[in-house]
Amino acid sequence: MSTTPSAAPRILSTRDGYDLWAEIYDTEQNPLILLEEPEVKRHLGDVRGLAVADVGCGTGRHAVRLAAERAHVTALDFSEGMIGRAKAKATVGDISFVVHDIATPLPLADRSMDRVINCLVLDHVPTARLEALFRELGRICKRDGFIVVSVMHPAMMLRGVQARFTDPKTGQETRPESSPNVISDYVMGALGAGLRVLHLSEHAVGDELASSVPRAAKYLGWPVLFMMKLAPGDT
Ligand SMILES: C[S@@+](CC[C@H](N)C(=O)[O-])C[C@H]1O[C@@H](n2cnc3c(N)ncnc32)[C@H](O)[C@@H]1O
Repeated sequence: MSTTPSAAPRILSTRDGYDLWAEIYDTEQNPLILLEEPEVKRHLGDVRGLAVADVGCGTGRHAVRLAAERAHVTALDFSEGMIGRAKAKATVGDISFVVHDIATPLPLADRSMDRVINCLVLDHVPTARLEALFRELGRICKRDGFIVVSVMHPAMMLRGVQARFTDPKTGQETRPESSPNVISDYVMGALGAGLRVLHLSEHAVGDELASSVPRAAKYLGWPVLFMMKLAPGDT
């Protein structure tokens, strides 16, 4: 098999792309994740005894930690490859996994979750479907609960960057299909779904990250992460 990288990235369906990426996803030092993780932790705070849904859980980066911190976690994803990795890591706590396409209604009861997280997923959700997904996140969230969303900042697309990895077998840049959503799509999607906005923030690569992670240096000062904290509305 050839190991010579070809110039044109290969675009796969989002599900097929992540099934393939799953093999190496946890081995990469991803600057976006390094910026995002402390933000999600800070917003969630103490989760002991809380019901948490991780919608688009991937390899369980958040879900596995939250279960270890004694949350009752339900983790959903449509990639068998990604969720398989998460299952293998989930050795402690109360965590259940559901293979599910979040383009369809979530298989969770109304107002059943204290916390809902949706991390680094929305750049794969077509713009026209954002509002319906936000509506689902709001439906499963308890009235006194909240929702934490993180997503790759749309400004990354101006640098030609989308979710991508190098296929270790072929050396080819491979991209699970993404949607060119912009900040207003996310904000209007959430508002259109009747959610309340509690917090919005945009995060750029700072000096510390740029000097410690070679991949991050070229994004010094550039926004790479967008965060939202949302709550169910009055209706
Ligand atoms: C970049 S990964 C992030 C995973 C995890 N939330 C994290 O932050 O580490 C994006 C995940 O979203 C999942 N995903 C994308 N579109 C989806 C859909 N329509 N239904 C379910 N999962 C989806 C992918 O399979 C992948 O695991």
